[in-house]
Amino acid sequence: MDDNEFAVIEKDNIRFFDEELNIICKKYETVNLSNFNTTKNGYDNFMLKEIFEQPKAVINTINNYISSENQGVELSQFQPNISTNSSSTIVSPSSIYNKQFYFSNFNLSQDDLNNIKQIYIVACGTAMHAGLAGKNIIEKLCKIPTFIEIASEFRYRDPIINENTLCIFISQSGETADTIAALKLAKEKGSKTIALTNVFGSSITREAHFSFYTYAGPEIAVASTKAYTCQVSLICCFAIYMAEILESTNCNVLEELKKDLFDLPTKIKEVLQKQEEIKNIAKQCYLQKDLFFLGRGIDYAVSLEGSLKLKEISYIHSEAYAAGELKHGPIALIEAGVYVVGILTDDKLTLKTISNLQEVISRGAKTFVITNSKLPNNTFDFIFTVPKTNSFLTPILSVIPLQLFAYYIAKEKGLDVDKPRNLAKSVTVE
Ligand code: AGP
Repeated sequence: MDDNEFAVIEKDNIRFFDEELNIICKKYETVNLSNFNTTKNGYDNFMLKEIFEQPKAVINTINNYISSENQGVELSQFQPNISTNSSSTIVSPSSIYNKQFYFSNFNLSQDDLNNIKQIYIVACGTAMHAGLAGKNIIEKLCKIPTFIEIASEFRYRDPIINENTLCIFISQSGETADTIAALKLAKEKGSKTIALTNVFGSSITREAHFSFYTYAGPEIAVASTKAYTCQVSLICCFAIYMAEILESTNCNVLEELKKDLFDLPTKIKEVLQKQEEIKNIAKQCYLQKDLFFLGRGIDYAVSLEGSLKLKEISYIHSEAYAAGELKHGPIALIEAGVYVVGILTDDKLTLKTISNLQEVISRGAKTFVITNSKLPNNTFDFIFTVPKTNSFLTPILSVIPLQLFAYYIAKEKGLDVDKPRNLAKSVTVE
């Protein structure tokens, strides 16, 4: 249904009305729910199940955009919506991905892409954090300045956008009120809009010029996990696609990245196999009142996501800081016994972040480090190693121990992991 429509649902009949209560005709689409596995499938909680679904969710998403045979990005997947104005047609996955039918409608041409002077990625919460990882990929591959905006801020700050701006709106549910309002504003101002969502036919897809989907399957736990890793994977596919058209990055770099995308599921599995390590660390710090997350560059973006995940399901106060900001204030909060989580996946920045961590160690903090490098064993209290991957893809691996960390802390505290207090899965109001 579209905004301001009403329905009367009876046992054998549904009637639709407009806002003046005139009867209206709608097209019907039968949703085959048996295609979706919405049970816990033997897991204690949906959140844990969804964390463990990530290898499959990520490869399903990548496979829809990059052919694993020739590893060329499938142009047909980045196609416009059937209708860019509000329509009563619910678009099914099969009709969206009919290559023959939609290829001719594809209208983001090389000229259009060449004319894009800036990109905004707009979202809320975890989706916004995925956008931070996406910004890094798009800017480096496409050489277009890319800005991240919180949807609830963007919609009220009269942003300078025009027809040379591309706005990407990320929303797992496709129903987040602030993100949809921000999209409507961008459209009004003449920008091309893309919705990146996990839900076919969701409200956001009816508003955007283009919709790209993650294939994560239904995400039921309030804490978003597999949606994040799929969103980062999809933005990466899109950035490769744009970079190929714009010829903004050396082909070998793009080929290498495609290969590394296909290697992700195996590496995600490697991380998941070590869940007991995280469980043991969680057992030692679940009674903490405050926790800090530090990282530089892309690791700072992942720190924000780790901190959000911990807050929302464990109710432990936590903050994420760009490690270099520590001495500009937050270090005043560090005292003996406080836990600091450091994320170190960027070789160029590792020594810098280690030096920040040494500052907290010397003030008595306990440290838990997530890294893909070999670090000295005796410096930190806990080290969790993730496999090496392409530098654009590290957020997809380093976020997983943080998801498990939040999960096991909440479990130790005996909390309702899937339905944390005060939170809703879709935030459909301001
Ligand atoms: C994630 O763990 C949160 N529950 C929340 O931040 C969420 O990501 C945010 O509300 C955005 O939701 P959306 O992706 O459905 O728009």
